[in-house]
Amino acid sequence: MSENKKSPVSSTREGAVAIIRIDNPPVNPLSQAVREGLLREYEAAAADTGVKAIVLTGTGKAFSAGADITEFSSGRTAPFLTDVITTIEASAKPVVAGINGLALGGGFEIALGCHYRVAASAVRQLGLPEVKIGIIPGAGGTQRLPRLMGVEPALDIIVSGAPIDAAKALSLGVVDKVVEGDVVAAAVAFADDLIARGEGPRRTCQRTIDAAALPADLFAKKRAALARHPSGPLAARACVDAVEAAVTLPFAEGIKRERELILQCLPSPYAKALQYAFFAERQAGTIAGVGGDVKLRDVKSVGVLGAGTMGTGISLAFLQAGMPVTIVETKQEPLDKGGARIRETIEANVKRGRLTAEQGGAIAKNLTPSLDMQSLAGCDLVIEAVFESMAIKKEVFGKLDRICKPGAILASNTSTLDVDEIAQATTRPQDVLGLHFFSPANIMRLLEIVRGKATAVDALATAMALSKKINKVGVVSGVCFGFIGNRMLECYGEEVQAMLLEGATPADVDKALEAWGWAMGPLAVMDLAGIDVGWRIRKEHKFSDERIRLYRVTDAIADQGKFGQKTGAGYYKYEGRNRIEDPAVTAMFRAEAARQGIEPRNGIPAEEIVERTLLRLVNSGAEILDEGIAMRASDIDTVYINGYGFQAWRGGPMWQADAMGLAVVAERIKFYEGKYGERWKVAPLIEKLAKDGGTFAGLDKVKAGR
Ligand code: NAI
Repeated sequence: MSENKKSPVSSTREGAVAIIRIDNPPVNPLSQAVREGLLREYEAAAADTGVKAIVLTGTGKAFSAGADITEFSSGRTAPFLTDVITTIEASAKPVVAGINGLALGGGFEIALGCHYRVAASAVRQLGLPEVKIGIIPGAGGTQRLPRLMGVEPALDIIVSGAPIDAAKALSLGVVDKVVEGDVVAAAVAFADDLIARGEGPRRTCQRTIDAAALPADLFAKKRAALARHPSGPLAARACVDAVEAAVTLPFAEGIKRERELILQCLPSPYAKALQYAFFAERQAGTIAGVGGDVKLRDVKSVGVLGAGTMGTGISLAFLQAGMPVTIVETKQEPLDKGGARIRETIEANVKRGRLTAEQGGAIAKNLTPSLDMQSLAGCDLVIEAVFESMAIKKEVFGKLDRICKPGAILASNTSTLDVDEIAQATTRPQDVLGLHFFSPANIMRLLEIVRGKATAVDALATAMALSKKINKVGVVSGVCFGFIGNRMLECYGEEVQAMLLEGATPADVDKALEAWGWAMGPLAVMDLAGIDVGWRIRKEHKFSDERIRLYRVTDAIADQGKFGQKTGAGYYKYEGRNRIEDPAVTAMFRAEAARQGIEPRNGIPAEEIVERTLLRLVNSGAEILDEGIAMRASDIDTVYINGYGFQAWRGGPMWQADAMGLAVVAERIKFYEGKYGERWKVAPLIEKLAKDGGTFAGLDKVKAGR
């Protein structure tokens, strides 16, 4: 240890008990220095004849949040966590974990390797979330947790990655005691008691599992339920394999198996994509040129205009974050309907146990419905979610300008209109921005924060901070038609229409894309959201002749009043939510293709469906990046993962393009350009990066000065 660098692990003594503390703010990640410090302090305590028992604890709000994920890329360095834990577990003196705060991943594994566990009652997060970044617990967690709490609950916790709280941990037998107040003092008292009673170590590794008592099909059933696990095709399966090894193999063999399995997961494209997505999401909150010195505006009360689909969802998002909301409509009926929908959702959350009745009541009380725009005068933020019409929006913003207090942020939830033009309807365009929520707004995590030409930096930074407060992922977008997500989706959707004309059926397209990883195929999505949405937009805005041509059949379907699920038919027919292929729709595409002189193909291979849709997204993403609409490629991926059902284990479209290699991407796009013409024109940024051997990720790094 160097003289001037304090070790993040230290120890003190209380009577015969040594207290080892991890102090590596903010959440005590297990960096190399921590692992080394733990071994050093443990060995000192082991060697000290005056020490009869050891307490291991964390400082601050965490016991330990686990591995230092920033060390993943730099490779493993000794001492390894597994060895640290094995050494502690082998201790001849009893070791008690004093779990003061969250213990996740490697942090939880340390606690499992201790002989006893005492936890503070306030601890909410104990668990093994490794599966969420595409790996499995790799320091004995998969072998010790089933031995401590039983195989079935351990399997659920490890496969889901979901944390449990202290009370649950006590009921499952993972912790021995839960205490109010000073957990370290309680752990020391626990240790003193062990000393007094002459109780020695109680090693988890020596516990046995009664395999015969388990349901015979436990693992098979669990595997069968993993088809669409959010970690992708590998990690969750590896978790099941590892826990099965805890049942079928002796401890030391099980540890070896765990090691083999984590080594399969670590280099997988899924783990890499999940870890990238994890960092991309955090990165999205950083806005170039907006430092920590920007003073945020105080937002304590929110106004929402319009109690339709979006207005009610947006209100719920703020109400659930504990903020008071005033919701304004022009007429009593939609106001009552919207208010009722909000209350029903809160009640449903109480019924499902997500909220206590008391919390539900407090949330509902925070809503003030009104027919008078004047009641928005005191709001710090007003979000407009009225009809999608420029004339109406301008009128509304003109009124808001006259009514709202100075400094209030005035936001529009528009999905297609020009935020700069809306801002011009006010005398304070610096306070205007777009807050583009996704439906259902109380559930979908994505929030596009649309930065107008005049939007003030502090208004933008405040919106970003608010997105976190309401548990959303905020991504900044510039002003353009469709912003980041929908503009790209237009290209994706257009290519889908082209393939339907060429001979793919809606089911071919949806099945291919769902099998690749999309949460839902594009035609099923359109049927769910309503085919009429795009149909109306195509009526109001000017689009290229090409797009109009490609959407001709879809518009004809909508002309027939088939809007999708809500009318019982769209691209598919519906029995409840079950989609059934509709030969009439296929026939419409065949007939239109014949009219347009498109040679019918005998179906389109799944790989081509995946490639064409993905490349259209990438090409459009590159244009958006080049125009400065998106700040970074990773923001585009964050948009797609959080708002469009692109699976995190696939990393996002831009990540996929980097994985293909941009030279290959450019070549494939040009191939399709040769075949289909203008709509496939390669984005200049892709050509440039391909020529220079660059990547989107590399470009992000250059921009961030990293
Ligand atoms: P909606 O038709 O369900 O609701 C609009 C509501 O605004 C109606 O209840 C109407 O009575 C009310 N309204 C109209 N003029 C008003 C005024 N001057 N003052 C107060 N209330 C007024 O529409 P929806 O779907 O909620 O859309 C609202 C906005 O959100 C639109 O700009 C839309 O483009 C945008 N959006 C919609 C999404 C969706 O999936 N539905 C997704 C993202 C954005």
